[in-house]
Amino acid sequence: MKNTIMGLLLLALSLIGLVGAAPSYYEVGDSDGWTTTVGADYYKSWSSSKTFCVGDSLIFQYNKTLHNVMEVSSQDFESCNPNFPLNTYQSQYEPVVLNRTGHFYFICGVPGHCESGQKLDVLVMSADTPINQPNNASSSCSKPNPPPQPTEDPLQVLPVDDETIATLPYNAASSPCVWTGLSMLSFVLLITLVSV
Ligand SMILES: *[C@@H]1O[C@H](CO)[C@@H](O)[C@H](O)[C@H]1NC(C)=O
Ligand SMILES: *[C@@H]1O[C@H](CO)[C@@H](O)[C@H](O)[C@H]1NC(C)=O
Ligand SMILES: *[C@@H]1O[C@H](CO)[C@@H](O)[C@H](O)[C@H]1NC(C)=O
Repeated sequence: MKNTIMGLLLLALSLIGLVGAAPSYYEVGDSDGWTTTVGADYYKSWSSSKTFCVGDSLIFQYNKTLHNVMEVSSQDFESCNPNFPLNTYQSQYEPVVLNRTGHFYFICGVPGHCESGQKLDVLVMSADTPINQPNNASSSCSKPNPPPQPTEDPLQVLPVDDETIATLPYNAASSPCVWTGLSMLSFVLLITLVSV
């Protein structure tokens, strides 16, 4: 009985945590990180499988002695030209905040790396654009109850993968009634747990 209560409590808490998880952090390339060894179209398919919203952050993970991150114009992205970066990032622990809508273009400025596929084009949606995701999970960038910025090491904040998102009752949980219900539920469960 206690295990069941504990399980329900964890489920309720994690639902609240995931649904309200805004802004999102995305580890570029997932566990492969930011590198040249993943193939020419790897980052293209990585970014096309995600929905990026204003305020979300990218976290580039790479070996600093081998790679860097430059935000460049679309022209310099196409031609792999590292000579006119709009922004250069060298600390892989610093999230790159997607602070506007539209395309962000990133390349590695080390000669040959962009050409071999170390380039990333991210399209950022505005906070109120409805988006139809590939899995038909109707979604939008409007995020209910955004919590404060996480204070822990951003590298520890794992991105929420599509499978997890698909299992979430996202629309239902977005409504204030369900939201309040979930909060009440976890509160009641907490009280129950404490008194068992
Ligand atoms: C980074 O790359 C350099 C050069 O290949 C290597 O000596 C070093 O061990 C690497 N560092 C890490 C943390 O992998
Ligand atoms: C977004 O952040 C970058 C890097 O800090 C900065 O250069 C740029 O001006 C910011 N853009 C907006 C619209 O705030
Ligand atoms: C998503 O929607 C399209 C068009 O409405 C439909 O053809 C497709 O089967 C749906 N895919 C899933 C996974 O439900």
